[in-house]
Amino acid sequence: MLEQFTAPVGTALDRFIAQKQEQFPYATGELSQLLRDIALASKIINREINRAGLTGIEGQAGGENVQGEQQQKLDVIADFRFSRALSKGGETCGIVSEESQDVIDTGNHDSKYVVTIDPLDGSSNIDVNVSVGTIFSIYRRKSELGTPPTIDDMLQKGTEQVAAGYILYGSSTMLVYTTGFGVHGFTYEPSLGEYFLSHPDMKIKEDGSIFSINEGAYNSFSPSIKKYLTYCKENEWSGRYIGSLVGDFHRNLLKGGIYLYPSTEKHPDGKLRLLYECNALAFLVEQAGGLATDGKQRILDIEPRTLHQRTPFYVGSPKMVQKVQEFLDEDD
Ligand code: AHG
Ligand code: MN
Ligand code: MN
Ligand code: MN
Repeated sequence: MLEQFTAPVGTALDRFIAQKQEQFPYATGELSQLLRDIALASKIINREINRAGLTGIEGQAGGENVQGEQQQKLDVIADFRFSRALSKGGETCGIVSEESQDVIDTGNHDSKYVVTIDPLDGSSNIDVNVSVGTIFSIYRRKSELGTPPTIDDMLQKGTEQVAAGYILYGSSTMLVYTTGFGVHGFTYEPSLGEYFLSHPDMKIKEDGSIFSINEGAYNSFSPSIKKYLTYCKENEWSGRYIGSLVGDFHRNLLKGGIYLYPSTEKHPDGKLRLLYECNALAFLVEQAGGLATDGKQRILDIEPRTLHQRTPFYVGSPKMVQKVQEFLDEDD
């Protein structure tokens, strides 16, 4: 059994990744390099976001993505930056991105990892200077080395993730990730261009008093969700909803809380995407002591059928997720 890796607050991300790798005698360093590639791309995105209002990259790009969403200019820029970093970095053979219909073949057929990514999460918040994020999952490919990536490499259950994380471009920029041995948070120091460990071994509170949901869709919620919301209000819990999943998740991770995106009339299967939004956050929250379900089963146990599959999503402090589950069970 490997011991929980700890490092002092202030350790630089690159050093942290390198030290962690030394724990695994047979590690080849490819995953470490891949994590560094993602961190590097995030620094470039961070720079673009910080000066978005000055460089004319706010607003819509004019196209639609595969889900029929209007792409923002920064959606397109972030997608391009991450795809390029992962392709040039050489450790990734295939990518699934929110912004591309099909599997992206990076041409690195000798690489053993695939990545699923939401390059820019919460893109409706760019133009109003509110936090946005990036979400990623890393899997080992199933297909043979030396061949192009396949769809089955991508349609793996969340339990197969070897690493997952997010970057939150907030009042400060943070990178939070797990490789299955705890969750570690790093804060970006822009003048040094480096992430430093600021939140080692993050744990979510067992219970909390924040609920995060878009109540605008209230009329199309199921009776059980309506009743649960009444229950939240009877307890006088705080309603907090940014509309950037990464931001809402991060707050609840630090303070204790629950995030809900149930099925609605507009989004009968829920809005959030299993492969590049829910699985990563489910892996992180479980590593931090929390829970994530679709109302019927653990998110990480869902067998994906399609690349852009959506799912209802309930994630956060374990007692709060169990409570909403009790309400949902009444519907059956
Ligand atoms: P994205 O910007 O990557 O398409 O994700 C949007 C998601 C998520 O960030 C957010 O929590 C949710 O959509 C908000 O949806 P509503 O506007 O329906 O609340
Ligand atoms: Mn989108
Ligand atoms: Mn998103
Ligand atoms: Mn997105």
